[in-house]
Amino acid sequence: GYLKNSSGQNTTEKPSLLFVAAIHGDEHQGVNLTLKLASKLLGEYGIEPSSTLLVNQRDIWVIPVVNPDGYQRYQRKSGRDNDGDGVRESKEGVDLNRNFGYQWGTDSHTSNTSSSTFYHGPHPFSEPETQAIRTLVQRVNFSSALPYHSGLSNPVFLSPWGYTQELLPAADRANFSRLGENLSHHTGYLAGPAADPAMGGYVAHGDLVDWLYANHSTYAWTVEL
Ligand code: ARG
Ligand code: ZN
Repeated sequence: GYLKNSSGQNTTEKPSLLFVAAIHGDEHQGVNLTLKLASKLLGEYGIEPSSTLLVNQRDIWVIPVVNPDGYQRYQRKSGRDNDGDGVRESKEGVDLNRNFGYQWGTDSHTSNTSSSTFYHGPHPFSEPETQAIRTLVQRVNFSSALPYHSGLSNPVFLSPWGYTQELLPAADRANFSRLGENLSHHTGYLAGPAADPAMGGYVAHGDLVDWLYANHSTYAWTVEL
């Protein structure tokens, strides 16, 4: 069945983890990373104890390419024909990481103008790519998620919020910072709120991580490789 876990049992009791890449079609590093992750876990299953343990004790979902049209064209936005004239011009498409349904809106890195790099689409979840993620997330209750990007010059883990510089409620803030310290410790990347300029971040509305956290209580970080 669809919801069988990675060792074939019909249970959803194990924590589920989501790894996704290429929401932005011109950011290919995460595609290689997630494919390598999948092949490492599968190839080392039953051989390497750490991989075996992860596969046995977690349900792991890997989506190497969220935005296949953008990926194929090497462009950030999706392949949406915004004006519906049958021709997909270079400035068309939707920034899929602005199309998620929490605090969907407008600011300096989010736009209502269809030719903008940061065009957020006509309404939240207007796009088939973001709808597909929503459908999966509603079926599988992810404990944690890592969407991979490679659009910043500094490598970081970016936690909620991204839509505001306000901080999370205290308990969640403490959890995010404890987990973030762990991520930093293992990678050397900094971890902190996505909208924090000190992280190289900026305010943007409608990203995947804000929606996962707000609507599904998922511990999620945008990873800027
Ligand atoms: N660089 C990515 C983007 O522009 C990640 C954004 C993370 N969220 C944020 N509000 N800065 O979509
Ligand atoms: Zn990106």
